[in-house]
Amino acid sequence: MCGPPPNVPTHPAYVSPLVHCYVTSGQVGPTVMALLSVLTPVLALVLCLVLGYMLVKSKDAETPSSRLKAAKVDSRPWVDQEVQDDTELEQREDEGDDWVDRSEEQDIPHVPYSAMRYPEETMVERSKEFYRLLNQRRTVRLISPEPVPREVIDNVILTAGTAPSGAHTEPWTFVVVSDPEMKHQIRQIVEEEEEVNYRQRMGDKWVKDLAKLRTNWIKDYLDVAPYLILIFKQTYGILPNNKKKTHYYNEISVSIASGILLAALQNVGLVTVTSTPLNCGPQLRLLLKRPANEKLLMLLPVGYPAPDATVPELERKPLEDIVVHI
Ligand SMILES: Cc1cc2nc3c(=O)[nH]c(=O)nc-3n(C[C@H](O)[C@H](O)[C@H](O)COP(=O)(O)O)c2cc1C
Repeated sequence: MCGPPPNVPTHPAYVSPLVHCYVTSGQVGPTVMALLSVLTPVLALVLCLVLGYMLVKSKDAETPSSRLKAAKVDSRPWVDQEVQDDTELEQREDEGDDWVDRSEEQDIPHVPYSAMRYPEETMVERSKEFYRLLNQRRTVRLISPEPVPREVIDNVILTAGTAPSGAHTEPWTFVVVSDPEMKHQIRQIVEEEEEVNYRQRMGDKWVKDLAKLRTNWIKDYLDVAPYLILIFKQTYGILPNNKKKTHYYNEISVSIASGILLAALQNVGLVTVTSTPLNCGPQLRLLLKRPANEKLLMLLPVGYPAPDATVPELERKPLEDIVVHI
């Protein structure tokens, strides 16, 4: 009854001591014994691999660079890992074959520059006028569904595109969404992540700091605003020959462009909410079919303010608190 099963080696050399013990005590059937005799060396190997992997991981976790990385993350917990500026990292990556050799870039001619020159009085007046305009800018979270001319949106984006950028790489992509279905999908992604942000990721202090602004994870304006502008930073460029091009200081460059966009919106009487939806970048990038070199930096719902819109009564720091003349 307990004879060796077919196809299983019966030589003692093929039977592990563990299996042999069962064989001799006759407690298990022949199929199980055969299985164990085959699997025991495999299990031992898997166990060794797991132990080795755990050992390597524990050593790796203690390296100075990993401690530094952990310290950096701890000290800037509010920075979405997706959007951190990684210019230094890119410079190191730049050494690979995939990257464009700087000598391949063409020289460009230089042309005379003529600036507008105003009398000093006019300068003072214009500076006051511009300050008055921008001092009225507010983050408005109640946006009207009223349509806005598409040409205005194109023009404010053209204006944003006048921003300076590291080595004139212009590392920005402005995705303008007006399709209601797409806006709704964006809202679903943002609200789902924002609920986790508010409940878990942001921590008590951050949530308390936001309480006065009366914000939460419900974002009606993502459905209601006639346009959503999603601003992506291009972490590197891709040339027609598929080589990669370093985009120096891409995050700073795109942030400057975003500031100019806010000013341009204010100039035409439109409002927005400057938002940086935490942890939504990868999902929104895939939804909008943007390439892997692009990372979401900001999401701006854009429109007229709703007639019943209110804003928190905030004060801005006076000049003496924000300037140091030396
Ligand atoms: C980088 C950045 C991220 C922001 N993220 C959000 C956000 O996720 N949700 C929101 O309602 N407001 C957000 N705001 C808007 C600020 O709350 C707002 O600018 C601030 O309260 C000052 O108000 P004001 O814009 O009306 O001057 C953000 C602003 C900045 C600059």
